Amino acid sequence: QELQMNLEQIEKGGFEHFMLKEIHEQPNAIKDTYRGRLLVKEGIIRMAGIDDNIEKFLNANRIIVVACGTSWHAGLVAEYIFEDLARIPVEVEYASEFRYRNPVITSNDVVIAISQSGETADTLAAIKLAKANGAFVFGVCNVVGSSIARETNAGAYTHAGPEIGVASTKAFTTQITVLTLIALKLAKAKGSISNSDYRYHLQELELIPEKVAKALKSDEHIKQVADIYKDARNCLYLGRGYNFPVALEGALKLKEISYIHAEGYPAAEMKHGPIALIDEQMPVVVVATKKGHYEKVVSNIQEIKSRKGKIIGIVTEGDIHVKELADHIIEVPETLEPLSPLLTTIPLQLLSYHIAVMLGKNVDQPRNLAKSVTVE
Ligand code: G6P
Repeated sequence: QELQMNLEQIEKGGFEHFMLKEIHEQPNAIKDTYRGRLLVKEGIIRMAGIDDNIEKFLNANRIIVVACGTSWHAGLVAEYIFEDLARIPVEVEYASEFRYRNPVITSNDVVIAISQSGETADTLAAIKLAKANGAFVFGVCNVVGSSIARETNAGAYTHAGPEIGVASTKAFTTQITVLTLIALKLAKAKGSISNSDYRYHLQELELIPEKVAKALKSDEHIKQVADIYKDARNCLYLGRGYNFPVALEGALKLKEISYIHAEGYPAAEMKHGPIALIDEQMPVVVVATKKGHYEKVVSNIQEIKSRKGKIIGIVTEGDIHVKELADHIIEVPETLEPLSPLLTTIPLQLLSYHIAVMLGKNVDQPRNLAKSVTVE
């Protein structure tokens, strides 16, 4: 028993929980993901799984992403980045819906399956269906040699290292990193991005680990914010564009480990429903970084304020407008818009973590949830 305890403490590397350890591992995990692939000086992204199949991607009618849970959110980020940079149409599907819908799949479709564990039953079944219909299936998995990694035609591992906490953290940011590399590589091959823009994206991507490390420095401040809102019954998360999926993921993290009801919404959809929920009891976390419809998000924030909602703004360093309106701001370093989810996700992970710890919840093994869902 004692030996078991000590072993677990060693595995946690001085952190109180696996989740916190894994949150803090993200700068290195992201580096491990792009190591050997992102060659900034040469201006090359090297990924064998893409190089070997580049024609399939370039000739694809569309990309269909299939995934579940947090991996599905990474797929949504990928939709923005593939369409924006590589100009390839993307659909993002819950694997469980896709597989039972009698979906239209052709041999001109490329399916990207995203899965941390590589064992999710619905995702695996969706892959088999896509393959049976002639689609080329590419896997983005973390666990090497997993069922999904083996079942797919080709793939790229995230190399995030083992993720033990049930709530996914470093798997998410490394999935986004891999998908960003792929999108940039395809954009370059297609000529849908200028050479200078391409170079700029590579340079900025290389800087992400140190910017994540900087974002992690807000931990103490985030803890104070967590203490103020830990007793909330509900919480709303808003974001636009690239940061809409981040809002969904932030809400998922909170409900998974703290059991507080949380919803993520595209900020502009607030007026079509969620705005009715806003009163002085309602914390609203708004991702409002400089690039990406900033003014529009600021006006959404004004609407929340006039209804007395409590505003927690995730903003770019040095922001002044949101600061004036929000009850709290949490800063992240500036980066290119397509890379911003890699930074804005960090404070949302920490916020959920601290709230759950303060509420005495089992952060690493939340009730009713499993790390990998191998049944339907
Ligand atoms: C479970 C886990 C989530 C995960 C989802 C998909 O619900 O608790 O953290 O996002 O499965 O798992 P996968 O391994 O396919 O990414």
